[in-house]
Amino acid sequence: MIFPSMLQNKRVVLGVTGGIAAYKAAYLVRLFKQAGADVRVVMTRAAERFVCPLTFEALSENPVYNDMWQDNSQGKIAHIALAKEADVLVVAPATANSIAKFANGMADDPLSTLMLAVTAPKLVAPSMNINMYENPATQANLQILAKRGFCVLAPGIGFLACGDEGKGRMPDPEIILDRTAALITEKDLGGKRVLVTAGPTREYMDPVRFISNPSSGKMGFALARACEHRGACVTLVTGPVEMDDPINMRVIRVTTALEMAAAVNEYAANQDMVFKAAAVSDYRPAAATDQKIKDSRQIETLELAANPDILFELGRKKGNTVLVGFAAETQKLEEHSAQKMQKKNLDMIVGNIVGVSDSGFGADFNTVTCFYPDTPPDRLASQSKDSVAHAVIDRALTIYRKKGYE
Ligand code: PMT
Repeated sequence: MIFPSMLQNKRVVLGVTGGIAAYKAAYLVRLFKQAGADVRVVMTRAAERFVCPLTFEALSENPVYNDMWQDNSQGKIAHIALAKEADVLVVAPATANSIAKFANGMADDPLSTLMLAVTAPKLVAPSMNINMYENPATQANLQILAKRGFCVLAPGIGFLACGDEGKGRMPDPEIILDRTAALITEKDLGGKRVLVTAGPTREYMDPVRFISNPSSGKMGFALARACEHRGACVTLVTGPVEMDDPINMRVIRVTTALEMAAAVNEYAANQDMVFKAAAVSDYRPAAATDQKIKDSRQIETLELAANPDILFELGRKKGNTVLVGFAAETQKLEEHSAQKMQKKNLDMIVGNIVGVSDSGFGADFNTVTCFYPDTPPDRLASQSKDSVAHAVIDRALTIYRKKGYE
């Protein structure tokens, strides 16, 4: 799991209302905390029937706000102070009753009162029985919230606690985390089209054996997610990885380098930026068999055929696109990265050392140096791949603006 760096040091106020999914809000607090946020939990009386405030107090490391009349030692009015300090207000789970209160401006409990006072972005994650969710009254209330600028998540579909099946489950905490980060991220890539590649390719010699590398796709997925959070229209072409599709983008799953080349070529035109984080196999077995080779020891040499260099081809016909490559090196990072940047006609190449445990392939962190054709390189401190992604995008955007592509 990659934790969005945009939530680092942000004050997240989490409203928990009285539905069975309230127990999932405890895990959501953990996710927000792991992303570096300062979490304040506000509970309704009904929520306390499902989960006790102490759980949220322990997980958030802050007192829970659940009583409008409680003594506030600093002499401040609690809901106004909390509202002023909030960077984002998330309500999960949001019951039909709370949604109705928010839509109609009622203020008769700590959360609905706070809701009126908060000016920061707001997100609601509905969770209720399918008929309650589909009831025209609830739908009208949700539309009112959406029109007022709330981010209203669609509930998940599946088994509901009442025994029914269908729409009504609280969206997964990971989705709420992702959408919260998106909500508070500046949309400086709004209206821009971005293509990202991620993961390894697999080059089969028979149906069960292949040439590949340990790329997990984490770096490319972090880039795709960060671009989407910043407002871009993203196409992600990924080799075989074990991650779910990121939200709100076109995702194309491929296996081989030839398939990746075909997908990239199909979507590369008119992109504002291209980030090529995929670890593409340079070679494939010259001939693959349809059936498993019975005894591989009979093969003494494996004949290889060169795969197309996808990035080189993009560099040859580059128009007003900022082209960013990645270089995976085990030595001479600067020299090898610079050679690749020049050969492939790139605007920037992100060099990283691979084959070490806390950076490169498979790691949650990366230590990279950005190289440019005309200016000195800048070495970034080791940081999460999510954070590296934002730093790389910042630099690509600077190049985009300098070149006057805006
Ligand atoms: O996926 P993770 O586990 O998170 O790991 C991330 C990463 C280490 C894979 C990533 O940060 C990275 O370095 N990706 C590029 C790996 C690579 O293939 O490097 P390269 O030096 O072989 O290729 C240079 C560039 O040319 C790359 O942008 C690559 O996508 C591109 N290329 C290479 C070969 C080829 N046939 N076609 C290409 O487009």
